[in-house]
Amino acid sequence: MINDMGKGSIENTDSAENLQGWKQTEEDHYFALIEQPKYMIGSVAKMLRVKDHVVRDTVALMGLDLERGDSGRKPRLFHPDNVFDIADFRRRRGLLPWDLPPATVVVYSAKGGVGKTTLAAELAVQWAFKGLKVLAIDLDTQGNLTQMMGYDPELERDADQPADNPFLVEYNFGSLFTIPPILPTPVPLADVIKKPYGENGPHLIPADVTLANLEDALLNAQVRDFQVLRLLQRGLTKPTPPLDLTGYDIILFDAPPSTSMLTNTTLLASDLCISPVALDALSFKGLSILGGRLINMREQVGRSPSVVAVPTFYRDNRRRVAKVMERLKEHYGNILSTGMIRESEEFKRSSIEREIPISLAYPGSKVAIPDLQAIADEMLGILKNITENRMAPKGGE
Ligand SMILES: Nc1ncnc2c1ncn2[C@@H]1O[C@H](COP(=O)(O)OP(=O)(O)O)[C@@H](O)[C@H]1O
Ligand SMILES: [Mg+2]
Repeated sequence: MINDMGKGSIENTDSAENLQGWKQTEEDHYFALIEQPKYMIGSVAKMLRVKDHVVRDTVALMGLDLERGDSGRKPRLFHPDNVFDIADFRRRRGLLPWDLPPATVVVYSAKGGVGKTTLAAELAVQWAFKGLKVLAIDLDTQGNLTQMMGYDPELERDADQPADNPFLVEYNFGSLFTIPPILPTPVPLADVIKKPYGENGPHLIPADVTLANLEDALLNAQVRDFQVLRLLQRGLTKPTPPLDLTGYDIILFDAPPSTSMLTNTTLLASDLCISPVALDALSFKGLSILGGRLINMREQVGRSPSVVAVPTFYRDNRRRVAKVMERLKEHYGNILSTGMIRESEEFKRSSIEREIPISLAYPGSKVAIPDLQAIADEMLGILKNITENRMAPKGGE
């Protein structure tokens, strides 16, 4: 039971020092499997990248009703929902400016195991900490992103399952399309979407094996290339109650490594393709495959996303890593991100044991979190440039 765990942890940190400055300790946050974590104020401040008193003042302003720990001083306990509600409040007060048109981002590499899903989940959370409305869409029939956000793509609705089991995945991205005969009737977006961390946290369109229907439908469709672009544009510019995407700042796809029709039409629909490059691997062939594919795309349909390569699994004490990094700079320097994600055990602990992104599981992490924050900021900068250029009239002033 989370409450029992919680009690112990709070008492551990219930020292004078902690009550003064909420110095981060390992016990400062805690959680139970599947259950959502609960944080003390210091962790919330870290997540939102503000001072403790800013959190305290905002909570007071909002009149936020928080759970109290049941130890001596009854410290306030924040759930992920509360954290995102605070971010949303700050955004609405103009403290977290982002007034750009919606952007579409895909995390893609032709290679598996390079950290795509990890990066997608963390970006979704980090951007939502900044008050951005993020819709994360799982495009992998494996449903890894879906799992990482706490749902179970393997659960089946049957006699043993309560119909309202919150972990059940019933719909996926394919459910939104009308591509008869395989996908004859679209499901309203509101029924497809999951809200793992409340209204103001990142939303999720989950995936399970039935997403394969979408690939089949696309292969049968007359017009394939623009299916995803059309759907998104419809939801963004001609919203209807069943498909209204106007509330989102960023639509973020986690793509499988395959060269499927679905990844193709998604790449085509995206403003930016973030491509993780694992530095522990011997090659970065994935990038050259991607490059070739995008050149073809631009030639054939006159459109392709900007690309940024993000080094992952970085270790500064490995000769091979340094070598790969050097070659990467030499060949792909123009698309390489400044930041990179170091290799860290925290990621593995976070995804498998917790089914929750590291940004929510270990807000005090000294390795993963600074890297993720820097990448999240850098990607927003790139998106800002892209969307501003898109808005600027062609041919200068
Ligand atoms: N920076 C990192 N350091 C250590 N392990 C990582 C890192 N990034 C991802 N991982 C782990 O590597 C595995 C593959 O990552 P994942 O994001 O699923 O890759 P992909 O989506 O490209 O297949 C997962 O177990 C994940 O926890
Ligand atoms: Mg993946």
